[in-house]
Amino acid sequence: MSEIHHCRRRFLVALAAGGGFVAIGGASALALNARGRSGYEEAVKSTWRHSDSTDLPLLSVRKELVRYACLAANSHNTQPWQFRLSDHSVLVLPDLKRRLPAVDPDDHHVLASLGCAVENIVQAARAFGLRAVPSYDPDAHGIRVDLDTAPPGRTDLFDAIPHRQSTRAVYDGRSVPPEHLQLLEDAGNGDGVRMLLFTERKQREEILSYLLAGNSAQMDDGAFVDELKSWIRFSYGEALSTRDGLFSKSSGNPALPGWLGRLIFSEVFTKDAENRKYVSQMRSSAGIAVFVSDKNEPAYWAEAGRCSQRFALQATALGLCHAFINQPVEVPAVRGQFATYLGLGGGRPDLVMRFGYGPELPKSLRRPVEHVIQS
Ligand SMILES: Cc1cc2nc3c(=O)[nH]c(=O)nc-3n(C[C@H](O)[C@H](O)[C@H](O)COP(=O)(O)O)c2cc1C
Repeated sequence: MSEIHHCRRRFLVALAAGGGFVAIGGASALALNARGRSGYEEAVKSTWRHSDSTDLPLLSVRKELVRYACLAANSHNTQPWQFRLSDHSVLVLPDLKRRLPAVDPDDHHVLASLGCAVENIVQAARAFGLRAVPSYDPDAHGIRVDLDTAPPGRTDLFDAIPHRQSTRAVYDGRSVPPEHLQLLEDAGNGDGVRMLLFTERKQREEILSYLLAGNSAQMDDGAFVDELKSWIRFSYGEALSTRDGLFSKSSGNPALPGWLGRLIFSEVFTKDAENRKYVSQMRSSAGIAVFVSDKNEPAYWAEAGRCSQRFALQATALGLCHAFINQPVEVPAVRGQFATYLGLGGGRPDLVMRFGYGPELPKSLRRPVEHVIQS
């Protein structure tokens, strides 16, 4: 039985446990779901698209660059960013109201998310006839992207931006040909950040053991679970009204009315069930990429984000799925053991991703560009 079916069955069992109370809500929930679904699909279409034209006035180009930036991966889809535009640069700043104190107490993932957004700007700028040069700005705690004119050109990575998604599904177990692994390797390395690629079964099983240790620690941590729950969007309506967070369907789970999702959450979201899910997801993947920075500092965390986004775009361009599995690096005690396993001296393992061939899931949404541009 696939993981998605297994999960749906757990939801149905929990629903049945809710008895008549749930049954009464069922019919109206179905009608609401159908209406919400078409609105959601419309929003996905208008979010995940290329620009109609790359021949635009400068102000429109900069807004388009911000729109592309927002399509980047980001932790819990909090979209923890703000953008300040000036004539020849874009300043990408953290939005600390959207930080995740439980899973990310040192704002590592905030900076990595900014790095992901910056990588999309770099890829998109060329298409608009600009060269984007990012540098970390320690005073602003953000990344300044300088823009110069350059010959226009489209890359495969740029073309992949609106098709990329984090695919939290079971993949089909096929391996990736060596020439494609080489392209992934070329994409995933950066300045002060290197990517380690693991495709052997034994290595994948070893990394799985760190994932399970990290996941078990997180599932035992009430603050982690409460924070995660607060960012889950259980219904189409919730996902559409906030346009952020983790929509159930995008994680391969059914959409439910929010009140019902929250009611049965603890029945469905258990340590054992999550660990079983990760075992099948990992064993169906073709490989794992670990991004490691030379120094444990914000500029390097952002660079690790850039590398992971470039890797994700290259994977997408090759018809591969990917998903972050950051449990081995999010729990400090497990991260230390994982660093030892990887044989790192002082380097920090920043981010972990699995990849392989798999299905497409419903895409997540983004807030409007106007909400993230500072005037
Ligand atoms: C720094 C960072 C950490 C992330 N950690 C995880 C993770 O541990 N597990 C996971 O399933 N997704 C993780 N994600 C993926 C985000 O949840 C995802 O990018 C976001 O929900 C938006 O969805 P999209 O990537 O499909 O556009 C992470 C993303 C970033 C940038």
